[in-house]
Formats: sequence, C-alpha cells, structure tokens
Amino acid sequence: MGGHIILNFITTLILLFAIHLSTSIALDPCASNPDDSDLTVIPIYGKCSPFNPPKTDSSWPNTIINMASKDPARLNYLSTLVPQKSVSSAPIASGQPFNIGSYVVRVKIGSPGQLMFMVLDTSSDEAWVPCSGCTGCSATTFSPTTSTSYGSLGCSDPHCSQVRGLSCPETGTAFCSFNQTYAGSSFAATLVQDSLRLATDVIPNYSFGCVNAISGGSIPAQGLLGLGRGPLSLLSQSGSLYSGVFSYCLPSFKSYYFSGSLKLGPVGQPKSIRTTPLLRNPHRPSLYYVNLTGVSVGRVLVPLASELLAFNPNTGAGTIIDSGTVITRFVEPVYNAIRDEFRNQVKGTFSSLGAFDTCFIKTYETLAPTITLHFTGLDLTLPMENSLIHSSSGSLACLAMAAAPNNVNSVLNVIANLQQQNLRIMFDTVNNRVGIARELCN
Ligand SMILES: *[C@@H]1O[C@H](CO)[C@@H](O)[C@H](O)[C@H]1NC(C)=O
Ligand SMILES: *[C@@H]1O[C@H](CO)[C@@H](O)[C@H](O)[C@H]1NC(C)=O
Ligand SMILES: *[C@@H]1O[C@H](CO)[C@@H](O)[C@H](O)[C@H]1NC(C)=O
Repeated sequence: MGGHIILNFITTLILLFAIHLSTSIALDPCASNPDDSDLTVIPIYGKCSPFNPPKTDSSWPNTIINMASKDPARLNYLSTLVPQKSVSSAPIASGQPFNIGSYVVRVKIGSPGQLMFMVLDTSSDEAWVPCSGCTGCSATTFSPTTSTSYGSLGCSDPHCSQVRGLSCPETGTAFCSFNQTYAGSSFAATLVQDSLRLATDVIPNYSFGCVNAISGGSIPAQGLLGLGRGPLSLLSQSGSLYSGVFSYCLPSFKSYYFSGSLKLGPVGQPKSIRTTPLLRNPHRPSLYYVNLTGVSVGRVLVPLASELLAFNPNTGAGTIIDSGTVITRFVEPVYNAIRDEFRNQVKGTFSSLGAFDTCFIKTYETLAPTITLHFTGLDLTLPMENSLIHSSSGSLACLAMAAAPNNVNSVLNVIANLQQQNLRIMFDTVNNRVGIARELCN
C-alpha cells in the first residue's frame, strides 16, 4: 500500500517533470524557424497572427465566408494586373470594411530590423509597407528615420520605372512616387530601399513602397510582400540568393493555431514532386499561369469546351495559382458544369451559404465525390477538406468553390487558398514549372 503510494508519487513527479520539460522545451509555435530559410506562413486570422477576425462570430466557417466575400474584388484586381505602361484606371469594387489577404509572414525591415506581418501575395510583385506619418494607416508602421540602412529612390532609379501606377513628373529629380489600387482600396507611396530580413536571410537595398496615405479598408494593415514573377518581386530582387525558386504549404483553415511554411530557394524543396509547366503571359507578368486541361468530379470528366480553359495571353484567359483568393473561382460556364455534375452525384436538396451555392445536409457527405484538377502532366485530386466546407453549426457541407464574378473581364480561373491546404506548391521560375505534393503542414 505504502509502496503503491510512493510509486504513484514518483509517477506524479515524473509526470510533472515531463510536463515542465515539455513546456520549457516547446518552442513558441508562432516563431519563425531560426535555423534555415523556412518562414512560417500564418493564417491572417489564426492564433499566431496579430490581426483579429473582423466579426464577433469568428467561427472558422464564418471567417472563411467573410473572407470569401472579398474574392470578387480580388478577381477584379487580378484581371487588371497589366504592365504599368498600359495601365488605365480599372473598374474596381468599392472598398470592403476589413483587411484583405489570407496569410501573413514575419519580415524585418531596416537596421535594426522592424518587425512587420506582411501579407503574402503570389500575384503581386512590389512589396509595400505603411510608413510612419501615413494617413489612414493603422498604428504599426515602419519608421524610416530609425533605420540606418534606409534610402529613398528618385524617379531616375531603374527600379522606379518598373512600378505600377507611377506618378513621376516627365522631368526633374523628384522622389519615385506611385499610386496603386489594391482590392478596391488605393494608396499613395514612394519607392524606397532598405534591408529586408526573411528568417536568417538579409536582402540589402530592397526596393519597396513606403505607403504615405491610404483610402479604403482593404489595404493589408502591415504591408504586402510580392512573390510574383515580375521585375520588382522578391525573386527578382533577391538575385541568385533563391535561384528563382520558392514553395509554400498552407495550413488547414480549421487548425488556425498552426502555421504553414514558406521555403525560399532550391534547398530543402521536395526531391520528387510532380510538376506542370508554368506559362508566361507578357501582359500579366506577375501571375503564375498553369494549363488546366480539365476537371473531374468523381470518375466523371466534366465536359468543358476547351476554349473555356485555354490560356490566352492576349485576353488574360487561363488558370492561375493564387495565394490571395480564398476559394477557387472558375469562369461561370466552367463552374456551372462542375457544380451540376457534383449535384448530380450527391443526392439531396441544395441550399446556399455566403458565396457557396451547393450546400447539402452533412449526412449526404459520404456521397460527395472527389474533385480532380487535371493540369498538363499533373492530376491533383483534392483532399475532401479542400473541396468541402462545413457550416459553423456543422449541419451543412458546401462545395467550396464558386463562379468568378460575371463581368467583362471574367476570363480567369483562380486556384485559391482553400484548395491548396496541406499541399506544397513549388514555383520554379527558372525551369518554368509548378510542383504540387501533398504535405501535412499544420
Ligand atoms: C496619388 O494619391 C495622392 C493621395 O491620395 C493624391 O494626392 C495624388 O493626386 C494621387 N496622384 C495621382 C497621380 O493620382
Ligand atoms: C545599398 O545602398 C547604399 C546607398 O545607396 C550603398 O551605399 C550600398 O553600397 C548599397 N549596398 C549594396 C549591398 O548594394
Ligand atoms: C494546354 O493543354 C492542352 C490540352 O493538352 C493543349 O492542347 C494546349 O496546347 C496546352 N496549352 C499550353 C499553353 O500549353
């Protein structure tokens, strides 16, 4: 009896010790991995993010529905990403009341480094951050005056001519200033340069926009890091450091405590990964186009006219992989055909919820077919988690895709975040390919 108690006591001690050990060893789950160039990719409304969900009802399905309601503005934005030379004012939806962008990464700017949580955007090139004194920005800003490595750039700087929305005078030695629209809001910035630190990598003299004024509510509060393929993007400005290669793995929307990872450079990328060619559109230099050749619902290859999926550099038509759109959007005839086949296979009645028009009672979920995206040389069968979303009450499941807004520019199919959860997506801009592999990243 006494021995039993002592044993219990010792067990308790060991347990307590173990718990103590694990809490003191456990790394901050929100910290960036300090050992290599992996960066954590944090869901903007996840635990590790400084941003709070916009609504009081912050269950994850409602957060997604709120976020997805901004997708039409995002698609408009993507449809207007033309090179700066031919830019004209674009039709843009009115500003939304909360910030756009789905994932943030921790970045340090300046010397000593100032921490910013910047939105990751694979469809933009420029980086920009709110600077101190900015009109309309939130409290966290970058302070140029406290950085010893800061410099401003003039209109004659080669990087200046690559900025979209440039507003330099024809002559003179003005600062390089530009105005841009982003997801229905606009901002005024000047191009500056300073050190950019990502995990342990430092890129000196990185050119980015110092935002001086914003109007509208959808400008990312702590700035944006452009991972596009155009001239001012991270890949272009980091030269040989990353050899034109990066990948990310986005965590599940459900496990919002967790973060995914951004791997910059060829080191540490998956050795065997199926790939599809990356297509270049000179009229949309930032975007990562791929060749979507078909979509299957269960075993049925959905009949789709090939011109609805075809890549056309002149009209901008085709399919891109994007990190800033929440749910995948297909041009209307493509979406309707996929949805009709899906409904056909799931017996039951259907209702709508937010952007989703194919919701059904969860008990029918076992009948829900898988969705397979066929790309040149690569078939991607979406895990169920990536094709269905559940209502916050849990009684409904919805097909988590939608039609692109039906306007004149509606030619673009966008493979979005929700469909990319727990996949490693690797962009190799030197060998022009995109690799996709399953990975549990949360
Ligand atoms: C840029 O934005 C600023 C501030 O909103 C405004 O004063 C300026 O006129 C704009 N410039 C151009 C060229 O649109
Ligand atoms: C960065 O810019 C500063 C000022 O323009 C210059 O003195 C310095 O040599 C540059 N550093 C690098 C690494 O290019
Ligand atoms: C896309 O795939 C289709 C079907 O295989 C092919 O006919 C077409 O040429 C491809 N387009 C590009 C731009 O590679």
